[in-house]
Amino acid sequence: MAVRRLAAEQPDSFAFTAENLAWAQKVIDRYPAGRQASAVIPLLWRAQEQNEGWVSEPAIRYVADMLAMPHIRVLEVATFYTMFQLQPVGKKAHIQVCGTTPCQLRGAEDLIRVCKSKIAAHSHELSADGNFSWEEVECLGACVNAPMVQIFKDTYEDLTPESLDKLIEDIAAGREVTPGPQIDRRFGAPEGGATTLTTLSDDTVGALPFAHVVDGNAKASHAFAGASINGGGHDYNGVPTPAEDAVARVKAEVAARKAAAAAAPAPSAAPAPAPAAAVPAAAAPAKPDAPIEEGEKPELLSAPRGGSSDDLKRIKGIGPKIEATLHEIGVHHFDQIAGWTDANKAWVESRLSFKGRVDREDWIAQAKTLATGGETEFSKRVDSGDVPSSKSEG
Ligand code: FES
Repeated sequence: MAVRRLAAEQPDSFAFTAENLAWAQKVIDRYPAGRQASAVIPLLWRAQEQNEGWVSEPAIRYVADMLAMPHIRVLEVATFYTMFQLQPVGKKAHIQVCGTTPCQLRGAEDLIRVCKSKIAAHSHELSADGNFSWEEVECLGACVNAPMVQIFKDTYEDLTPESLDKLIEDIAAGREVTPGPQIDRRFGAPEGGATTLTTLSDDTVGALPFAHVVDGNAKASHAFAGASINGGGHDYNGVPTPAEDAVARVKAEVAARKAAAAAAPAPSAAPAPAPAAAVPAAAAPAKPDAPIEEGEKPELLSAPRGGSSDDLKRIKGIGPKIEATLHEIGVHHFDQIAGWTDANKAWVESRLSFKGRVDREDWIAQAKTLATGGETEFSKRVDSGDVPSSKSEG
């Protein structure tokens, strides 16, 4: 890794804008007295965003003073993490090319050649127009989709020299680009689609470790195949995780089998009469487990006002599956979500297959913005068709 030094030329001073200052104060207030230093990384990141993508020496001192930390401690943080840029970067893109072994074996050196020829001969050197810069970094955690690059907060994966060349051209021309895999692959799934668990035999259903989830009373809340059903680990923007997909398919399979069993004619030999209480249970279609009542029921609607629901998928964290559940329980509009109290959240979450996402994605703040006709960064992406989870399938 290259030596990380502060830029030779520095501005005279740095100060947060009023908006960023208010935000920083809120972040600092999250930590107990005496632990404000825990806010150093978010504050440095915000300083970098405000300062056109790099952290200046005055910004380091400013953040240190805000957190009552010695300047040297914040300098250590800023120089250690490659997420912090210590000198000016390209205005349109600073391309961080992963050069660690998996990416290197899959062609990272070819990507660096593209950067050298299209941007600048040396890392951290600005392109002639000042719009681009690049550097080689260590593993960025997307090795399964190697080789890859990161541009600001987004990763672009499964790259070839040609697709990186096109990506740079698109950014230069102001065309919209889509982060993630640049080939026919969803997240880290196999190229071209699923290759396992595409059909479910009786043995498969019985052998699955989460079979009790679909046929018993337990909630789908434990880990399967290393992925959390609650969406932890990856930010899927409301798209069901692979584990959620698998559970949904097993649920559908079990429900279909129950329905088929209920519809099957009785055997010709006269069976012993079933106990009265067992008859409706055997004949009833599969129903979701009754939710455990928690919290307080919010305002619900038997049908959407004016005959059509708001597109709840414009809220980050709500995909088609969650939206359908919300409709089922009577939530159709942004203003309903915007008015939820903590007790209402608990009630709603007891009906969803996970807890915590309402707060994690801050649905209520998003809903407040959308209910008044505003837009969020995420809703803009949904509206532009950039978020696959916002499509209505599934
Ligand atoms: S090796 Fe490149 S992302 Fe991990």
